[in-house]
Amino acid sequence: MKQAGLSVFQDTAANLIGRRTGRNRRLTPIWIGSHTDTVKNGGRFDGTIGVIAGIEIARVLKDNHLILEHTLEIIDYTAEEPTEFEISTVGSKALAGNLSDDMLALKDGGGRILGETIREYGGDSDTLLQAARNKGSVKICLELHIEQGPVLETAGNILGAVSGIVGIRHFLVKVKGRADHAGTTPMTQRLDALAGAAEMILALEKISSRRPDPASCVGTVGRITVSPNAANIIPSSAELNFEIRTLDGQLLETLSSSFTLACRDIAARRDLTLELATLSPTDPVFVDPGIVNLIKKACTLATDHCQEIASGAGHDINQLACFAPVGMIFVPSRKGRSHCPEEYTDPRSIAIGTEALLNTVLEINKRTPA
Ligand code: GLV
Ligand code: MN
Ligand code: MN
Repeated sequence: MKQAGLSVFQDTAANLIGRRTGRNRRLTPIWIGSHTDTVKNGGRFDGTIGVIAGIEIARVLKDNHLILEHTLEIIDYTAEEPTEFEISTVGSKALAGNLSDDMLALKDGGGRILGETIREYGGDSDTLLQAARNKGSVKICLELHIEQGPVLETAGNILGAVSGIVGIRHFLVKVKGRADHAGTTPMTQRLDALAGAAEMILALEKISSRRPDPASCVGTVGRITVSPNAANIIPSSAELNFEIRTLDGQLLETLSSSFTLACRDIAARRDLTLELATLSPTDPVFVDPGIVNLIKKACTLATDHCQEIASGAGHDINQLACFAPVGMIFVPSRKGRSHCPEEYTDPRSIAIGTEALLNTVLEINKRTPA
């Protein structure tokens, strides 16, 4: 960031910000940002390319002695991916004023507290509220990201102008049964927490497969912890992370209720104890059609191969949309793979995406009356 001529600082939520001051200081800043944290065993491109694209745009402006009307801020948002503290998009939640005291008090498995960890990374949980932005205080939040799915590659396109981003409901489910001997306890007398949890997993699969269009709704259990996790003991407890995603806010509510009901029925039928907590919900976001069109034009200047696309992945934009207009550009993911070691995007596509992002910034700047 410094080499690209940016002045660099962190806000109280540890978001890393590089600023290039614009000509007209009364204008609100244009933001370009993404994240540099990753998921387990993946994520070399997920997030990172968006931060690097922003820095590259700052470098191009510097090298060409171009001063925008607006101040440009390149942001590496704190902890976008799910954290050890069960919540994701930590930095952008703070910017949206959605990081509550309860969230700051969350502990990870080792007993570390989220608020203190933010401080360790350069933020300050005591003054965290200062990170929150008012509505209208940012001109637009832009992000370049990998698609993380197969749509662009299948269509032979290089760029996607994002029209909407899914909403997500997360559930932390604890199923409690009773540990017993795996050889001597008759099948009719068991309180098997894992067998109950398995039924809940299949219930989620069924509930989220109800829609004919598979891309419009998905449900996943990505994590399960079983106790005591021994081959010859009937599991006494299972803890699972469930999530449901769709672009349709109403459907998200309906499916969440169906899932909750199914869990309660399964637990009651099996005499298991159920604790079901909902973790910070994310609502679907629709990009303003005027912005989608502006971005499509900016993409067309960089390549003929572009289309509109919906995002099945969640992004910081879901939070940022609470206080500013948003826009996103996608580049293809090879074989649609992401959140795995095979995640890859051709550097030429990233360069074309970066060019489209620069075109977007220049167009927004041009439309601002001097
Ligand atoms: C972010 O990576 C997500 O889970 O969509
Ligand atoms: Mn990710
Ligand atoms: Mn990401």
